[in-house]
Amino acid sequence: PNKDSTVVIVLGASGDLAFKKTYPALFGLFKNGFVPPHVQIIGYARSHIELDDFRKRVSSRIKTNNDEEKKLLDEFLKKCTYVSGQYDKPEGFQKLNAAAEEVEKKYQGQKHRVFYMALPPSVFIPASEGLRQNAYSKNGSNRLVVEKPFGKDLESSKELAAALAAHWQEDEIYRIDHYLGKEMVKNLMILRFANVFLGAAWDRFHIHNVQITFKEPIGTEGRGGYFDEFGIIRDIMQNHLLQILTIVAMEKPVTLDAEDVRNEKVKVLRAIAPLTVDDVLLGQYTGSKDGKEPGYLDDPGVPKDSVTPTFAAAVFYINNERWDGVPFILKCGKALNEHKTEVRIQFQDVAGNIYPGVERNELVIRVQPKEAVYLKLNNKQPGLSSNAVMSELDLSYSKRYSDVKIPDAYESLILDVLKGDKANFVRDDELDAAWKIFTPLLHKIEREKVKPEPYEFGARGPASLNSWVEGHGYARTKGY
Ligand code: BG6
Repeated sequence: PNKDSTVVIVLGASGDLAFKKTYPALFGLFKNGFVPPHVQIIGYARSHIELDDFRKRVSSRIKTNNDEEKKLLDEFLKKCTYVSGQYDKPEGFQKLNAAAEEVEKKYQGQKHRVFYMALPPSVFIPASEGLRQNAYSKNGSNRLVVEKPFGKDLESSKELAAALAAHWQEDEIYRIDHYLGKEMVKNLMILRFANVFLGAAWDRFHIHNVQITFKEPIGTEGRGGYFDEFGIIRDIMQNHLLQILTIVAMEKPVTLDAEDVRNEKVKVLRAIAPLTVDDVLLGQYTGSKDGKEPGYLDDPGVPKDSVTPTFAAAVFYINNERWDGVPFILKCGKALNEHKTEVRIQFQDVAGNIYPGVERNELVIRVQPKEAVYLKLNNKQPGLSSNAVMSELDLSYSKRYSDVKIPDAYESLILDVLKGDKANFVRDDELDAAWKIFTPLLHKIEREKVKPEPYEFGARGPASLNSWVEGHGYARTKGY
């Protein structure tokens, strides 16, 4: 029988991230049998909460679909306990350590501890130090899970990295970018490296441009204070979209081993020059036309004269043999017309074309919602015409994989942590390279208070977006 034990410690257990994401993801794994048998999940936060109340709060955020799931939830809750304590004093962490040892002493096998920091950045450093000094397992494995913001620019990110590195080994640190846990982002490498015809066409000779888009139909909604300090470039582009870019552009790793994968990703980032103001289009939303939706500046947490962008588009060039001259256009925004994240690979024009109606091929990977991969290809218009017409080979997951429930990104990533697989986590040098691309631009925008172009809540983006994107080489195809 398995004699190993696992203790998952959720720091910030009474906060929104923990209730909204961490616990439901842990339950999702538990329900499907992916949690190791001898596991205990210990919540830790400052407030005193009775165990029963804590369990009620955990379960109130978890949806169950039938009686069997309700039973499983009860079993899951029995594995959840709670310890209260401070983030900047040793006593609480010592209590945590004792609680973990209590579990571990029952089993003779390997001992694993996972420290999941669902914490605001202000207590990040003291908590990571306190844990290392008081709750670190001396005779087992220790994994520290952290999440953005990883600083605000290269310098502050390096400071944070140094503070973590003073106590933790790099191979113990799991930096989450939850986009790396999304099903369709995980699909990108397989699409590229397990399909001969795609692999063969994946270069500047065949691909004209790449667009990676994130759109959200909601505004800052109460997060104005946080958001105004960071802005859309730090909130979405520097991490989520840039990570997708690296996977689209990387060379094939030698193996799927985490270091091999991340070695290739970091090379892509290092081949991108820092952005300048000429490479970006910035926007900020105003109230909707009908007056129902507030503008960004109406958010109580946002200063009335804020120039923080809530929309950004930027063009990147990768200076290597595969991608020289191919624009990678990244776009992201809040308060837009729809909820959508997608990767759109637009191929080159057909050379020496002889057919009317031919347009550029596109391969679209729709990350969310409604996961899909579709290929736009020129087909003979059915009937008596011999013109070409743009059609789709459509792999919509709701049809093709209707019986599969796509896991939440956090489920997939926490499973990786439990397995000790770091391929889908951000390495320190990757983070540095990412900040190098954005830091000069961010500093300039802030220093010079570069004015974003206004767009109405619910619009596709600033009015100049279409011409900006076309100016960078994208040819609008039918059905776009
Ligand atoms: C977070 C951002 O990282 O990602 C949020 O801070 C954003 O502003 C969120 O809403 C989007 O994630 P998802 O998984 O809902 O697309």
